[in-house]
Amino acid sequence: MRNIPFVDLKAGFAPIKAEVMRAIEETLTGMNLNIGPNCQAFEQEFAAYCGAEYAVGVGSGTEALQFALLAAGVKPGDEVITSPHTFFATAEAIACIGAVPVFVDIDPGTYTIDPDLIEAKVTSKTAAVIPVHMYGQCADMFRINEIAQKHGLAVIEDACQAHGALYQGKKSGALGSAGCFSFYFTKNLGAYGEGGIVTTNDSAIAEKVRLYRNHGHTSKYEHAVIGYNGRLDEIQAAILRIRLRLLDEYNSRRRAHAAGYQRMLNGLPLVLPEEAETRQHVFHLYVIRSAERDRLMAYLTEKGIGTGIHYRNPVHLQPAMSYLGYTEGSVPVAEKACAEILSLPMYPELSLDDTTYIAEAVRAFYRIQGKA
Ligand SMILES: Cc1ncc(COP(=O)(O)O)c(C=O)c1O
Repeated sequence: MRNIPFVDLKAGFAPIKAEVMRAIEETLTGMNLNIGPNCQAFEQEFAAYCGAEYAVGVGSGTEALQFALLAAGVKPGDEVITSPHTFFATAEAIACIGAVPVFVDIDPGTYTIDPDLIEAKVTSKTAAVIPVHMYGQCADMFRINEIAQKHGLAVIEDACQAHGALYQGKKSGALGSAGCFSFYFTKNLGAYGEGGIVTTNDSAIAEKVRLYRNHGHTSKYEHAVIGYNGRLDEIQAAILRIRLRLLDEYNSRRRAHAAGYQRMLNGLPLVLPEEAETRQHVFHLYVIRSAERDRLMAYLTEKGIGTGIHYRNPVHLQPAMSYLGYTEGSVPVAEKACAEILSLPMYPELSLDDTTYIAEAVRAFYRIQGKA
């Protein structure tokens, strides 16, 4: 039996080990560790990659969201519209700055916020929208920006799963008021620790994020606002510079694996990922839907295949969000998706042998039941 893990960080590290170890050594030899040369260079390189004017490195994707919201002027008591089909941190960041998450359902094809449902949730307290580019595919930014403009809302992209994803030929991170990225180590662009960044074309937002990430520090001994200790670590920045150069290659390998899965799983009673017109998916996760999800998952585990669920419970039904008063059935499309989704292994280092073995196992599961 094969053993194919859900992610394989060691396989990603091996080919760049020598370069990474050299970069760590150089960084530690220089000992310029507080927003040092690697952090500054990486900010410029990542802004250029996204086609944004500015990028400000921070400690995590969660901090990126918090600082971008604050920099966009979101205040305690303001409402921020987002989707509950996301990692908990999207709504957590809203709540942590004292604002109120307002959940809007998703489009079932792309798993991103349904623009048709946004306007009904806009009130006099709404200050921003956070579209989440789920699994590596951008939300419908044209429609979202149109609504935001009409109501004077900031648009903060949660691009934590979508480094390099395209929408109408433009990269994620350059599609709204600000873009927020995570460099958690499993992401398409991952550090070997924690990290995040905010991208923007707005110099005032960039300047404020710089303040918030560094205790509101304006000059020696002077602090203009109450901020955070939320800087991007210099060693992680050095590693990210190496990995950024490989991001397009990593993403094209992910897309090739997705195309292979798509071909090999075609015709089964499954819903396969959908790439919307004018968007380019970067497949942070390859998520299928099955009415028999839990049994399929158990079968694949028996065959030595690692899988995941992203995510099993929608955010509006999490105990920590119960104060908001959502109940089962309040966001039905997202709730149904949570019960059926299954993430198959997806990383650049998979081989065709691996994806063939995985697809064949899925096919066998349905064959045993007389459904393939
Ligand atoms: C959609 C989404 N938003 C926010 C985050 C938070 O990022 P981090 O873990 O770097 O704080 C993540 C990643 O984990 C994510 O997937």
